[in-house]
Formats: sequence, structure tokens, C-alpha cells
Amino acid sequence: MSRLDSMLRRLTAQRDGLNWAADQVTDISGDVLDMGLGNGRTYDHLREILTDRRIWVIDRVLQCHPSCVPPEADFLQGEAEPMLNRLAQNDHQVALAHYDFGFGIKEKDVAEAARLSPTIASVMVPGGIIVSGQPLVGFTELDGPVGIPPGRYLFYRA
Ligand SMILES: C[S@@+](CC[C@H](N)C(=O)[O-])C[C@H]1O[C@@H](n2cnc3c(N)ncnc32)[C@H](O)[C@@H]1O
Repeated sequence: MSRLDSMLRRLTAQRDGLNWAADQVTDISGDVLDMGLGNGRTYDHLREILTDRRIWVIDRVLQCHPSCVPPEADFLQGEAEPMLNRLAQNDHQVALAHYDFGFGIKEKDVAEAARLSPTIASVMVPGGIIVSGQPLVGFTELDGPVGIPPGRYLFYRA
């Protein structure tokens, strides 16, 4: 498979997974959390499909497309663990989270996702959904939407 095909499949899985997760949480109250603002693509999609939810965003840097800058009050700029702890301390519970942190080095990314999993759990509403580009631990893995090949994107219930 060409790298272009691979990238297209990953982005399609990401979008379809977020759409699926939004449907799963219609009866679960809580906020939304995008872990990894990056260019702002997934944040932009989340705010389009979940117009009535507060969307928190964590990233150590603000370097997104100018049209995708989150409101200052909802952008937690800093390292993941202290920013997740800040969210937990303020009693904000998350119904839908998207995990898209990464260095681009698979081993490091998997280790970081495992290390952060308990802290992510601390901000989730019981029954909330996590859509993730990396394997997480301590959650119930779900099949996710039809059509996404196993392992391409991952789905969990808190
Ligand atoms: C793959 S990009 C996110 C892409 C984004 N979801 C999008 O659609 O444009 C990963 C982002 O996570 C951030 N990041 C990675 N590890 C982090 C950590 N431990 N704490 C805070 N931010 C982190 C990086 O700065 C980077 O902007």
C-alpha cells in the first residue's frame, strides 16, 4: 500500500471513528476532550459534529491552522499529565475523548499512551467513549464502526 493510501485510510478511520463515537454518547452528559491539537483538524471536526458540548483541547504547543484556535478557556497548554490532572481537579468529566498524542515513533507512542491511561481514566464519565490512535490500557475495548480494519484506530469504553 502506498503511503498516500495508508494516510487516507488512517484519516478516514479517524473521521468515521469520531462520527461513530459522537452517536454513542448522545445519552451521556459530559464534555469532549481532544488530546493533541496539532494542526487542529480533529478539533475542527469535533466542534462541527458536537456543537452543544464544551471541547477541551490539550497540547504542549499552539501551532494549529488559524481557523482552528480553541477558545483560550478551553485550551490546556502544557504536558499531558498535568493538564489532565488540572481537568480532573476542576471536576470536568469527559463523555468523549480523542487520543492523538505522539512523537511518530511507535514504541515511544505506545509507552506514552499506556503511561497516560490511568490519568485519562480519571477525567472520563463512566461509560464514556475514547477514540484513540494508540493502544490504551485499563478500558474496555470496543469494535467501533463497521469498515475500520482492526488496529487502524482503537475504540474504548471507560
Ligand atoms: C499528531 S499531532 C495531533 C494532530 C491533531 N489531532 C490534528 O488532527 O491536527 C500530535 C500533537 O500532540 C502533541 N503532544 C504529543 N505528546 C504530547 C504530550 N505528552 N503532552 C502535550 N502535547 C503532546 C504534539 O505537540 C502535537 O501537536
